[in-house]
Amino acid sequence: MRIPLLAGNWKCNKTVGEGEAFVQEFLAQLGDTTGREVLICPPLTALYPLDKLLAGSTVALGAQDVFYEESGAYTGAVSPPMLRDVGCTYTIIGHSERRQYFGDTDEIVNKKMHAALAGGLKPIMAVGETKPQRDAGRAEDIVVAQVRAGLAGIPTEQMEQVVIAYEPIWAIGTGDTATPDDAQAMHATIRNTLNVLYGSAIADAVRIQYGGSVKPDNVDELMACADIDGALVGGASLKVESFLRIVHFVE
Ligand code: 13P
Repeated sequence: MRIPLLAGNWKCNKTVGEGEAFVQEFLAQLGDTTGREVLICPPLTALYPLDKLLAGSTVALGAQDVFYEESGAYTGAVSPPMLRDVGCTYTIIGHSERRQYFGDTDEIVNKKMHAALAGGLKPIMAVGETKPQRDAGRAEDIVVAQVRAGLAGIPTEQMEQVVIAYEPIWAIGTGDTATPDDAQAMHATIRNTLNVLYGSAIADAVRIQYGGSVKPDNVDELMACADIDGALVGGASLKVESFLRIVHFVE
């Protein structure tokens, strides 16, 4: 049984005060979350105060990125133990914006995956193709290569902690969502890759989220797809009302 994971990636948005106001309002209206898992990934500056507010709730806290060393002379970096220290149980790794603006290569993504798992964080590994790659018929090859490279050397025992997020880059922040059929097809391809790498038990257990312009009005049809096990939500996770509607998607 894969429990759907509905995650808000706030990206570079919200001050501490704005994050606290969101979480107070969100928790007040959240209601019953049986059968689904809810996660908020605020900017680093808001992790510690939001952990205090989320304590005792059903909402988990995650980071948007993590560094691959534990400590040392790495100016600007934040390590897995530091994220655990402020209440994180998850971290996103390899988001396309990290790959595009911060130079995260497949090799770096893989190092971060190993470090996160060793440090007790559940990684959400993001993969996805560009529009030109899709138009050239290379989407599946690109995504499968990212999955294989990102998971290189990750042992079977750690795989149940791993979440994969399929985020076609052309769908991020554009309002241009993948159709449920296209998303489902790629999710099935990713699951098949997991089957090849780790066998059917792991392929059946690992959750694969969809991300890219998930909104209240398209979440239900995306979540109805057999291999879509949650959503990684950017813009629509910044407003309490729209994120609540996504969390309470209708099966
Ligand atoms: P949007 O939901 O704003 O398209 O962003 C998706 C995303 O990148 C989540 O990580």
